[in-house]
Amino acid sequence: MRLTILGGGGFRVPLVYGALLGDRAEGRVTRVVLHDLDAGRLSAVARVLAEQAAGDPDAPEVTVTTDLDEALRGADFVFSAIRVGGLEGRAADERVALAQGVLGQETVGAGGIAYGLRTVPVAVDIARRVARLAPEAWVINFTNPAGLVTEAMSRHLGDRVIGICDSPVGLGRRIARVLGAHPGEAWIDYVGLNHLGWVRGLRVAGRDELPRLLADPDLLGSFEEGRLFGPQWLRSLGAVPNEYLHYYYFNRETVRAYQRAEKTRGAFLRDQQAGFYEEMRRPDAAALTAWDRTRAEREATYMAENRDAAGAGEREDDDLSGGYEKVALALMRAIARDERTTLILNVRNRGTLSVLDAEAVIEVPCLVDANGAHPVTVDPLPGHATGLVCAVKAVEREVLSAAESGSRTTAVKAFALHPLVDSVNVAHALVDGYTAVHPGLAYLT
Ligand code: G6P
Ligand code: MN
Repeated sequence: MRLTILGGGGFRVPLVYGALLGDRAEGRVTRVVLHDLDAGRLSAVARVLAEQAAGDPDAPEVTVTTDLDEALRGADFVFSAIRVGGLEGRAADERVALAQGVLGQETVGAGGIAYGLRTVPVAVDIARRVARLAPEAWVINFTNPAGLVTEAMSRHLGDRVIGICDSPVGLGRRIARVLGAHPGEAWIDYVGLNHLGWVRGLRVAGRDELPRLLADPDLLGSFEEGRLFGPQWLRSLGAVPNEYLHYYYFNRETVRAYQRAEKTRGAFLRDQQAGFYEEMRRPDAAALTAWDRTRAEREATYMAENRDAAGAGEREDDDLSGGYEKVALALMRAIARDERTTLILNVRNRGTLSVLDAEAVIEVPCLVDANGAHPVTVDPLPGHATGLVCAVKAVEREVLSAAESGSRTTAVKAFALHPLVDSVNVAHALVDGYTAVHPGLAYLT
């Protein structure tokens, strides 16, 4: 089995490779092809992988290439984890938005739109090439904004592209833990868009345990989302939102916290990772140790501004190992070996949420088997969630349309319609600001 990783010089690739190393079953991945535009990053990551594989005779063989078509030919699975514009681009997304007094997070609000506008044309090009060169391959999309990018690719690959994210799994795992349930025996009733979903119930032995959680302030104070949103708001909602909804429900506070931060998240990661890749140029550097130290620091500071704004304290140790690679591996195993399982994934809606059309990519529990991911039937969204989901999907559609037509007017419309952008004038200023700093947006005219 051959896996191609696009964005193969990316910092999280060793997580995926580590998960592959732990997989001994028949039909596992035996060959990994790393593709990246930057040969220096590829060799840095290849060094980490080599140290991970040291002493393991069955470790998947790793090759690297900067030729995209060569990377795609013969692939059984393609993981797409690219970052168009790099972390410098992410920092610019934040800066331009904050200068206008709005949020510049990489997936939410103005920042997510800017990142989407840059990424969609590249993702579409990849999807077209996969359709031509590896039509039997399954594409697993990690590239953010994951829901939007998956939808763009699905127009060319249909249900052969599946988007993944670890935040719903993490949320489900935390809720199960505080309720004393085993995550494997709990059914998590979660639905929405990527980074915009809600846990509305958690059933164990056919009984919904979520009301017990919502009624207990001590339990609510004992996990990340409980502390971020606070017991009162969670009770009002009757659900537990994905952590990314903190940017919506506490927008003023999160924008202020980002404005006050010494460095925004993107700028912090840009500098932190530049240090890592620089260190990897030294022939005597201990690659795996340096990578792991950098990873631990990244995870400990994840959403730090949000936790500060909410007075939520430090992250818990259990939450520090993301689980992103576990979702990816579980999905690949289910498809490759017909090992049926249930995972929360980004797939086309079909008729799952009646407020959206069949082609809209949503995030929903899916049954996965050799035929791909099949969304399960879920209860309709409550009114408050319908409002946000429809508004944000409408924005995503404008982004897709601007990426296709190159229309600057449509790009302005995308920003202006977003619930976290508070004026059409601001939307104009954002498009001006983003096109001035991002060469990848030169296509907007
Ligand atoms: C979560 C999100 C991902 C995101 C990751 C890293 O896992 O679900 O979409 O890429 O965090 O965030 P960071 O701020 O460390 O880049
Ligand atoms: Mn995510």
